[in-house]
Amino acid sequence: MQETRAWWKEAVVYEVYPRSFADSNGDGIGDLNGITEHLDYLKTLGVDVIWITPFFASPNTDNGYDISDYQAIMKEFGTMEDFDRMLSEIHKRGMKMVLDLVVNHTSDEHAWFIESRKSKDNPYRDYYIWKDGKDGQAPTNWGSRFSGSAWAYDEGTGQYYLHLFSTKQPDLNWANPKVRDEVYRMMTWWCEKGIDGFRMDVISSIGKERYEDGPVASGRIYGNDAPFCKHTESTHRYLREMREKVLSHYDLITVGEAGGTVEQACRYASSDGSELNMIFSFEHNDALNDHTAMGKWSDHGAPLGEVREILNRWQTQTAGKAWNSVYLTNHDQPRQVSRYGNDSPLFRERSAKMLATLIHMMRGTVYVYQGEELGMTNAYFTKLSQYRDVEVFGTWEQWVESGRVNPEDMMRWFERISRDNARTPMQWNRNKNAGFTDGTPWIEVNPNYLQINAEDEMQDPDSVFHYYQKLIELRHTMDIVVYGSFVPMLEESEAVYAYRRELDGNTLSVFCNWTERTVDCPEADAVPGRELISNYATHKPGVLLPYEARVIFTES
Ligand code: GLC
Ligand code: CA
Repeated sequence: MQETRAWWKEAVVYEVYPRSFADSNGDGIGDLNGITEHLDYLKTLGVDVIWITPFFASPNTDNGYDISDYQAIMKEFGTMEDFDRMLSEIHKRGMKMVLDLVVNHTSDEHAWFIESRKSKDNPYRDYYIWKDGKDGQAPTNWGSRFSGSAWAYDEGTGQYYLHLFSTKQPDLNWANPKVRDEVYRMMTWWCEKGIDGFRMDVISSIGKERYEDGPVASGRIYGNDAPFCKHTESTHRYLREMREKVLSHYDLITVGEAGGTVEQACRYASSDGSELNMIFSFEHNDALNDHTAMGKWSDHGAPLGEVREILNRWQTQTAGKAWNSVYLTNHDQPRQVSRYGNDSPLFRERSAKMLATLIHMMRGTVYVYQGEELGMTNAYFTKLSQYRDVEVFGTWEQWVESGRVNPEDMMRWFERISRDNARTPMQWNRNKNAGFTDGTPWIEVNPNYLQINAEDEMQDPDSVFHYYQKLIELRHTMDIVVYGSFVPMLEESEAVYAYRRELDGNTLSVFCNWTERTVDCPEADAVPGRELISNYATHKPGVLLPYEARVIFTES
């Protein structure tokens, strides 16, 4: 089936985590002017769209994902004038900007919540989800994603409010039409300012339908809210309403942070255009959880078989039904090369390029997370005091301080999986603090910036940076990369991830060695045609070298 063309299908999106990107005024915190100063860098890389994680007024319990005013800029990040200048400089360079829409919850310091908690008959009471306790306990057994109960008791009115995330992130009540109107009005305000799209935070949880105890998995402390709060019919209804009231009036790129199954994705991102352009899947990251009480905190590696089965399924089962987004990691995951590749000095560059090849040649809009294009690695913090993430501290309290898990295990899991791994400052050059700030950075800089930084990589034609640049250019110049169909290959191989893309009789064949060994792969040599890109200058007959990636174009 012929894929319909759209600019957002051809786009490569770059995710900026502003706090850690570039600090322009020496307070140790990245800011909007810092982003503006580095737009030429992003233009040189070749990306089309910049998604900037939340930069709105916020007390920063969850680094801006707790918003106290949707139409004001976070003080630490600058002013509305800084925003306007940044947006116009982005547009001047022919790039677009995506805003992070965080409307499952607000901060408890948002004016709506301050009103809401005042009294049961306050006009804003129903903007949030308030319930009576049950036998002196929380209304349901649900756990917050950041540990503890998902309900907080509020002395003032003697009721509980729902917070699927931290206690400082109360959930909005989307069943209230006034809430939806406020959100649509705010979205329209930003669209009128000229933004080009929305990344929608935990959008699959906006439609809560029932408030009942959820199943408690073995070893867990709290019940699961998913059956009542995730992927519900009302969520789909609200998204269709949002399309009608806001999205359909502008030419936007929309991506929902939704997770779920491929079937669910096909509804959110249906080609009929009734809801969103695409969603982010979580399945590849979630599958590497150990499915024990500790969830993602585990020693589970990233075996080829598991990753390939999932990514291939998303590639093939969305065909003809929905558009896909492709990425391995983001600001909520450890660093890509550390999690899926090999960050030892011997293999870091090769494996970073191999993973990039694998993702960039797939069908879907590609997302690059800041620093990934340099092959930045995990932070490997050794002390709890080096961490900054609310999730880390909540987890520590729930599992270690209560004596359920020993501190060594927890510290090791944080080192492997914690979100702070991806939040250390962007490594710009070899100057103090990697060129991120003249002051004291809010989170420590990874000491490997002397070996891994943008300035050095921009001078080295063989760098990870230039490899990304070339991959992005291929997407921009070859229709087959965007619109080709996806056909898995060598699905039984224990070392090689291979697939091909097909369009108008032409073929693109991709071979990636997932291991640090030289492995047999006569199939790669057997494909006739022209090599488009590889992370090795020369090959050995019949084999793929450690972490080798090769892309071959065959014309009919
Ligand atoms: C999303 C964000 C994450 C945040 C959470 C709560 O998952 O990506 O960073 O903590 O939502 O807003
Ligand atoms: Ca700053």
